[in-house]
Amino acid sequence: MATIKVRNSGTEITDETAVRDFLSAQEIYYEHWDVSTIPAHLQDRFDLSDGDKETILSSLAPMIDRLASSRGYVKWDLIALSASTPGIDELLKKFEQVHTHTEDEVRAIAAGSGTFIIKGQGDTGYFDVRLAKGDVISVPEYNPHFFTLTEERQVVAVRLFVDPAGWVAHPFADPSFAAAL
Ligand SMILES: [Fe+2]
Repeated sequence: MATIKVRNSGTEITDETAVRDFLSAQEIYYEHWDVSTIPAHLQDRFDLSDGDKETILSSLAPMIDRLASSRGYVKWDLIALSASTPGIDELLKKFEQVHTHTEDEVRAIAAGSGTFIIKGQGDTGYFDVRLAKGDVISVPEYNPHFFTLTEERQVVAVRLFVDPAGWVAHPFADPSFAAAL
């Protein structure tokens, strides 16, 4: 289940209904999948072959298909990041820059955990959404954000795209972000 931390106030939200209400008020799409459909031998594994990734995507197909058809996604893939990923530290440095996309950014967590840092509406400031296994989130197009790993430093996630060509990261220079850290 996702949890929230608002950077300006330090407020933490862990109650499921409160988390859903907060994200809804911020116009962030959120849902939760039952990912126990992933075969047991691939549960909580991070060193995945291309064949393993296909198997995991197939095991999640009913949920992927429903989300894709309701929200217009036409392509999806599975990413796995962990301490054994080559160049993981450099990769994370690259990730941890506030940016925007012309498409929404969707992640469905199949294993491990990850955090989206998102610029909130109005004077909310930035907030962290910590995602656990089964959490599905969509950061709206043009909404400043970045994604990073948690202290667990491992994640497997489904990414879904309306148009992968529109999914280039555009840096978003924001003095208020540095002030919020
Ligand atoms: Fe992004």
